[in-house]
Amino acid sequence: MQLDIGQNSPMDTEDQEIRQSHRNAVADTLGRPMQDLRISLLDQCNFRCPYCMPESQYNEVYQFLSKSARLSHDEIMTIASIAVDLGVTKLRLTGGEPLLDKKVVDLVARLGQLPGVDDLALTTNAVLLAPIANALADAGLQRVTISLDSLDEKIFSTMSGNRGNVEKVLQGIEAAEKAGLTPIKINVVVQRGVNDHTVIDLLDHFRGTGHIVRLIEFMDVGSRNGWSMEQVVPSKDLLELIHARWPVRAVDRNYPGEVASRYQYLDGKGELGFISSVTEPFCGSCSRARLSADGTLYTCLFATNGTDLKAPLRDGADNAAIAELLQQVWLRRSDRYSEIRKPEPVEKPLLNRVEMYRMGG
Ligand code: GTP
Ligand code: 5AD
Ligand code: SF4
Ligand code: SF4
Repeated sequence: MQLDIGQNSPMDTEDQEIRQSHRNAVADTLGRPMQDLRISLLDQCNFRCPYCMPESQYNEVYQFLSKSARLSHDEIMTIASIAVDLGVTKLRLTGGEPLLDKKVVDLVARLGQLPGVDDLALTTNAVLLAPIANALADAGLQRVTISLDSLDEKIFSTMSGNRGNVEKVLQGIEAAEKAGLTPIKINVVVQRGVNDHTVIDLLDHFRGTGHIVRLIEFMDVGSRNGWSMEQVVPSKDLLELIHARWPVRAVDRNYPGEVASRYQYLDGKGELGFISSVTEPFCGSCSRARLSADGTLYTCLFATNGTDLKAPLRDGADNAAIAELLQQVWLRRSDRYSEIRKPEPVEKPLLNRVEMYRMGG
């Protein structure tokens, strides 16, 4: 079998497919449609993962966004419905930790009623998930993606900034399964020398459960996580390791623009995925827009600035004006950071790059 995860060259068939599948949607300068809107509900999190919100910087003195600085749910609904009118079909709620928003269930119910949305998902660390999994599903949430970097209690604790507890996350996953928030995806950020040696155990645990583990290359997102190429474990290396233990075969993407390369275990024990944005960038099919909690629209995860939608909304701009703004931003879009960054030698991080917890993952 050929071990090949390189399915994402800038102009491959998938990129053409994504352009063709969204003929009516607004397309950017590279022909990519706006298909996916990620909505960050707040910039706070109950974890302090060192690769995302290191405790030394996000402590009692750090000023998170105040309630009035964050978009209200009405404002989120306005922007989401405009985005859907412009062709967005996938919505994902993120954070920070979106379940810290006490009214998240009500928002899900409202978003679920937007005509044209065929995928409504949420990314969470799952600590607060078990008690509200049923309510979220009843409100119309279709599925959850759960961050879980290791099943080793000590490593997990370190990777969550001493806030997380594996048992709690597993309870969240179980509750989500019972509530039908499936397929459940388990996102694992792999860092060399930190949790890479626990990946096989984690895969073993989830094989045969129907949950899809996705191994993510540690990214140079933001400017505060001390990223270096040495900390990245290339997906290809992990794939070889896994294939030696449980033979796998590549399967087609579920939809054009999917970021994960999918694999199935040959013994029928399910599926896993690789998100290889460092070694195999997938900008060519990137159809994701991101709305941060303060109402800024970003067109790339690695952006240094975005477009303020909150001010015009609060100044009384009508839907047509906001739609025009959104459309203009997307029409001018040319981002492809991961494809054009030099992987080595390690570049100096741009100090003003927006942090991931703030922009939404
Ligand atoms: P599905 O809809 O289930 O396919 O989810 P997804 O893979 O689009 O979304 P998810 O939020 O689970 O993404 C998983 C991880 O992939 C994120 O946490 C990021 O690390 C990475 N990722 C997602 N989108 C992008 C992107 O546009 N650019 C880059 N560089 N990485 C991304
Ligand atoms: N590299 C890769 N993925 C990251 N995430 C956060 N920071 C990084 C990073 N530096 C992902 C994790 C997390 C989700 C919210 O974003 O999967 O669970
Ligand atoms: Fe919170 Fe997710 Fe960032 Fe960890 S990676 S601090 S869980 S937002
Ligand atoms: Fe999209 Fe930017 Fe990620 Fe490339 S680096 S896939 S353009 S978000």
